[in-house]
Amino acid sequence: MKFMAAPASPSALADDLPGGAASDAAEPVEAAYSTIVPAQIAETADIDPRATIGDGSLVWHLAQVREYARVGDGSIIGRGAYIGPGVIVGKNCKVQNYALVYEPALLEDGVFVGPGAVFTNDLFPRAINVDGSRKTNDDWDAVGVTVRTGASIGARAVCIAPITIGRWALVAAGSVVTKDVVDFALVAGTPARRIGWVGRSGAVLRDDGDGVFFCPKTAEVYREIDGILRPA
Ligand SMILES: CC(C)(COP(=O)(O)OP(=O)(O)OC[C@H]1O[C@@H](n2cnc3c(N)ncnc32)[C@H](O)[C@@H]1OP(=O)(O)O)[C@@H](O)C(=O)NCCC(=O)NCCS
Repeated sequence: MKFMAAPASPSALADDLPGGAASDAAEPVEAAYSTIVPAQIAETADIDPRATIGDGSLVWHLAQVREYARVGDGSIIGRGAYIGPGVIVGKNCKVQNYALVYEPALLEDGVFVGPGAVFTNDLFPRAINVDGSRKTNDDWDAVGVTVRTGASIGARAVCIAPITIGRWALVAAGSVVTKDVVDFALVAGTPARRIGWVGRSGAVLRDDGDGVFFCPKTAEVYREIDGILRPA
């Protein structure tokens, strides 16, 4: 495997294999990098010179990062993933293999985008205008998907812009998300509906009654008021 920048260490590279063992490891969103390491970019990745890739990031083979896109420190862009023009990817995000993140998407810090997920950008798409001419960028208004801190998008989910996925929410694999998702919601299906709540760890919260929810993984307690969940 050949990378354009010197790898931090062989073990760091192995640990960060997309979909690999390290994918399951809990990571603090604001994980500090004790030493600043340059981004590692596979030789076959296509990074526009006007894009920026943050320190400690890893961009895998055949990924494409378009002009003016910004990938934050410590993020991973998987094999064959697409990051559209001007898209912002925060720190410590994981965009898995073949995910398609069309502009003007915004991913805050610590966002997980599963393999093959798609973020659309045109609610009523057409290739041509009514006169038969091919549409240019001036002939339609792009709309974006915003994914807030810590949220996860499951494999092959489709997020239909314009929408916002709330902080620490979890979108189940294969879902089609058509509406905003509130913080901590676990949504599934087509169209996606809330089927539960998840904590910051990603674990499904236990309903202890009276609007109180408990995370079996971290023992954090949350409270639901009027359909909004917050840490207690
Ligand atoms: C949604 C998810 C978190 C639920 O996990 P879980 O709590 O162990 O789920 P369960 O198997 O107990 O299922 C709970 C219910 O949700 C349904 N469900 C589970 N996953 C679903 C999905 N992806 N889409 C629609 N419904 C789903 C189940 O059928 C079940 O319904 P029921 O109560 O009517 O029988 C999990 O299935 C999922 O999709 N995780 C994301 C995986 C992923 O994409 N990872 C990316 C890295 S590869």
